[in-house]
Amino acid sequence: MATKESKASKLISALKPGKAPASKPAKAKADHATPLLDARKAGQEATPAMLQKAAKDNLFLHFTRHSPYQNADMPIITKAEGHHFWDINGKKYFDGISSLFSVNAGHGRARLAEAAAKQMKQLDYFPIWSHAHKPAIELAERVLSYAPKNLSRVFFTTGGGEANETAWKIAKQYFKMNGKPLKHKVLTRAVAYHGTSHGALSLTGIPSMKKMFEPLVPSTFRVPNTNWYRAQDDFENEEAFAMWAANRVEEMILFEDPDTVAAFFIEPVQNSGGCFTSPKSYFKRVREICDKYDVLLVADETIDGFGRIGTMFASEKYELEPDMLVCAKGITSAYQPLGALMMTEKLFEPFKHGTNIFSHGYTFAGHPVACAVALENLDIFDEEDLVGNVARNEAAFKKTLEKLKDLPIVGDVRGAGYFYAIELVRDKKTRESFNDEESEKLLRQFLSHHMYDNGLYCRSDDRGDPVVQLAPPLTIGQKEFDELEQTLRHSLSLAGELFELM
Ligand SMILES: Cc1ncc(COP(=O)(O)O)c(C=O)c1O
Repeated sequence: MATKESKASKLISALKPGKAPASKPAKAKADHATPLLDARKAGQEATPAMLQKAAKDNLFLHFTRHSPYQNADMPIITKAEGHHFWDINGKKYFDGISSLFSVNAGHGRARLAEAAAKQMKQLDYFPIWSHAHKPAIELAERVLSYAPKNLSRVFFTTGGGEANETAWKIAKQYFKMNGKPLKHKVLTRAVAYHGTSHGALSLTGIPSMKKMFEPLVPSTFRVPNTNWYRAQDDFENEEAFAMWAANRVEEMILFEDPDTVAAFFIEPVQNSGGCFTSPKSYFKRVREICDKYDVLLVADETIDGFGRIGTMFASEKYELEPDMLVCAKGITSAYQPLGALMMTEKLFEPFKHGTNIFSHGYTFAGHPVACAVALENLDIFDEEDLVGNVARNEAAFKKTLEKLKDLPIVGDVRGAGYFYAIELVRDKKTRESFNDEESEKLLRQFLSHHMYDNGLYCRSDDRGDPVVQLAPPLTIGQKEFDELEQTLRHSLSLAGELFELM
């Protein structure tokens, strides 16, 4: 064991990011040096060192601890093809989460670039404010053709968070215009992520992500998610647990007064916390409850949509008929920023009359170039039957990942389609998890670095219990599943040794 320990500790010290320097008064940058602009003007390529320095000097990365980059290099990505991308040093990586659960059709699709160029030449931009344009008109019809039959109207956004924000506002206004002005509250599920704007963050069920921005928008309430792995001691079977979880929605509506509750937001497969699935009976019961109390049901398919779960929308797989459906990411396979909110005609109906207006919109929402790219992307989906590829291979993907269950650190493998989480535990038998300090060591100091250094980009996350998540491009098959499994096995075995798990 001593040798193992020292091997693992050596790895940790090699991989550990530098300590954050003690806080000192910030110094303004002395000048606005522009080495990159100078190189550009001189017709020269910026060197990797120049890019590295300028990145550190000027960029503020999203959801990123910047302290490690005081002493270490920022990863700079330069190109991508299929399910791979390359960094500035020429190192190749397997894109195990489609970059951000987004590049569903895979990287490097020249025809999407051509569709963008063609659209830019035809109509570069026009807002969909009081006007329409062909790409938006065509795309609205196209996305509705894949959606549950009760949905018939599309409001475009530039991403998932904006679409959730929009859904809440639609719900509030709809009830105001229909004689139920008190209905404004929303229920969402514990640990679910719905975006970062004040409204979407208020919907989000992750306290640590919210605390720096409180007070947020009032009137959001959390109900339990369907984390079966953590509930199975208390229930006879998953159906019974799911029914219990669904009934908490009714309970919360009653606690808060049905006359004040407008909507319930739910991801059919919940990303945050690690790919929580639910049986169809859960969605059926939730639908019944929402109907009973006139509460709108919103499916947030920002990740689940566009084939990720093995059907075009996850709502189809789980026989869910939401009143609104949010989608983004895979709609363009991330080649352009775009989101969409689909809704029933009932919700749109009041806006057909008199002076009624929905005072809400975004400059770039439904951008013609993004819509043209989305249409071409969906052509690729159809021509290559990408959704069928997931449906045919999902059982094999699951089976391959489940091989990892022989490792002492792997407690659970769960998910659907090409969307899986591997939950890491201290003790398989008791399902004891890692505490915060251990989780920091496991995920941030060791695992994410080790997997990345071994050429695998995937998500290690502890917004719930520690998990590693996979959401590869929908193009891959058994050969790539095996490759993923092997790389994960290597990293997870060492992670187990780090904690002396047997
Ligand atoms: C379920 C869900 N909803 C909303 C969002 C926010 O989407 P965006 O970053 O496009 O605003 C995300 C982002 O990952 C998501 O996973």
